[in-house]
Amino acid sequence: MRILITGSRGQLGSELINIAPKKHEVFGFDMDMDITDIKAVEDKFSLVEPDIVIHCAAYTDVDGCEDNAEKAYLVNCLGTENLALVASRYKCEFVYISTDYVFDGKKTSPYTEYDEPNPLSVYGKSKLGGERVVSQIIEKFYIIRTTGIYSKYGKNFVETIIKNSKDSKTKGVLKVVDDQICTPTYSKDLAECIYSLIETKMYGIYHATNNGQCSWYEFAKEIFNILINLSKVSAAPVNIEPIKSKDLVDRKAKRPSYSVLSNFKLEKRNIFYMREWKDALKDFLEEFKDFI
Ligand SMILES: NC(=O)c1ccc[n+]([C@@H]2O[C@H](COP(=O)([O-])OP(=O)(O)OC[C@H]3O[C@@H](n4cnc5c(N)ncnc54)[C@H](OP(=O)(O)O)[C@@H]3O)[C@@H](O)[C@H]2O)c1
Repeated sequence: MRILITGSRGQLGSELINIAPKKHEVFGFDMDMDITDIKAVEDKFSLVEPDIVIHCAAYTDVDGCEDNAEKAYLVNCLGTENLALVASRYKCEFVYISTDYVFDGKKTSPYTEYDEPNPLSVYGKSKLGGERVVSQIIEKFYIIRTTGIYSKYGKNFVETIIKNSKDSKTKGVLKVVDDQICTPTYSKDLAECIYSLIETKMYGIYHATNNGQCSWYEFAKEIFNILINLSKVSAAPVNIEPIKSKDLVDRKAKRPSYSVLSNFKLEKRNIFYMREWKDALKDFLEEFKDFI
């Protein structure tokens, strides 16, 4: 298949390009195809003539979206609508990457694909808007909701925690929230899952995250536990202390307190099994320990 990937310099887009099965021809675009400009989208489609689009581009700064709602709706809704309109002319299949932040976090057990979204933030609302335009315009679509992506590409929680642990300004203490529960997800596992899913032709909404759940505090602690086991560090370079979300005054966006997703459809249809988050994190840190 000829696959057009948007957001190709971001975390997931880079991974999708890096691990693309050889049988596919993959074409990646980032800001060189500004999705808010439909003419730019038309031009790239006429060059590539894709069979399928994997749409990873987004305005992903969750707090930034609160300050700049217009940009959030421009990129995440209108940009997605531009792509969907042009893709429908080419009769493309379409993969839209969405988020756990479409949910309000009031549940206490994992959200399935059949739970009702109710986003708390501008980011969540704009990503849900993107889901809606895709399902209205595209006949053969996959909407894939995921959580807490980390990768060797770009800014993410693992990189930030390790970087901050080396920063003298932290004075040996990193404070991390313990009242938001989700599932960290390794970009490589998610990319493999996406390539399996697009083989199935079983279109619709899917949840795809690593298995299990943790708070961001537990996630941070586990990063250093693993690095100690890998003999990368002899002891955690900083103390990690739990704090509550309400104490982070500079965070503008409301986040769901519980946004664990159940990979219900992937598992019941035997499409792909996402491993436990701790196993994925260990592999990631093992592979990249020399760069850390
Ligand atoms: N990261 C997570 O934890 C997470 C969790 C759940 C869902 N998701 C979703 O998963 C997808 C991939 O996330 P990610 O972490 O890979 O995101 P990312 O690293 O932020 O990458 C997004 C890419 O899209 C580009 N982009 C932004 N505006 C664009 C525009 N107008 N036209 C073309 N490209 C544009 C960005 O360029 P610039 O960097 O230059 O802006 C960036 O390279 C997104 O749809 C996101 O909403 C992410």
